[in-house]
Amino acid sequence: MKTLIAANWKMHGQLAWTEKPAQFRALFPANANANSNDRVDILICPPAHMLQIMVAACAGLDISIGAQNCHDQTSGAYTGEMSAQMVAETGANHVILGHSERRAMFGDRDEVVAAKTSATLKAGLVPIVCVGENRGEREAGQAEEVVGAQLAASIPQHADGVSLVIAYEPVWAIGSGLVPTLEDIAIMHDHIRGCLITRFGAPVADNIQILYGGSLKPGNAKEILALKDVGGGLIGGAGLEMDSLAAIAMAAP
Ligand code: PGA
Repeated sequence: MKTLIAANWKMHGQLAWTEKPAQFRALFPANANANSNDRVDILICPPAHMLQIMVAACAGLDISIGAQNCHDQTSGAYTGEMSAQMVAETGANHVILGHSERRAMFGDRDEVVAAKTSATLKAGLVPIVCVGENRGEREAGQAEEVVGAQLAASIPQHADGVSLVIAYEPVWAIGSGLVPTLEDIAIMHDHIRGCLITRFGAPVADNIQILYGGSLKPGNAKEILALKDVGGGLIGGAGLEMDSLAAIAMAAP
């Protein structure tokens, strides 16, 4: 399975940033290095106003574009919202769903995430479903239980697991510079894999990429991305600058 390196730009970005994909490719040429580059898929998730223009900017660069959210309805009186079909029309092919910032600030509870995931699948896009415990839950020894429950309720019942990416992002590690120990990441990813096997069966579950996110940086990427069930990274801060994003991509096994 290829490693997926996904940059989540959050609410950062302006039209001048359409230069970034070409800058990235200058630093990390596609298929130039048989040892690594052709084994890494690159995804950039810019703010909604840039989706279409970023798809155009990535033409011929082998970089995919994803959205950071979508609505669960196809169309209607939902001021300020964008449907999964609308995301698909821009040429983007992934949608990040249930990011902890959306869960904490915009009411994206598990049921909402499941409905959005369902809409994303229906639109032919790949959902990246985010899960992760907060600090209190980690300290209380409930991290695995919390993540297992989020997974169960955030993936819609009809999903077959064939088109699905999971991102494990401990809330306390996002934007904080704090990172779980390698052992804790490995334990959680193994737990998530187990949950997916229970849900979808081994052959399907084994092909689901499980990304790690939360203060992933050039300095820690190599050891984290080398862990057995870590299929890539979801990168916030370090994904805004192409030199650090390229350094992370370079660190992929
Ligand atoms: P961070 O954010 O890399 O800045 O910690 C990750 C994320 O929120 O997806």
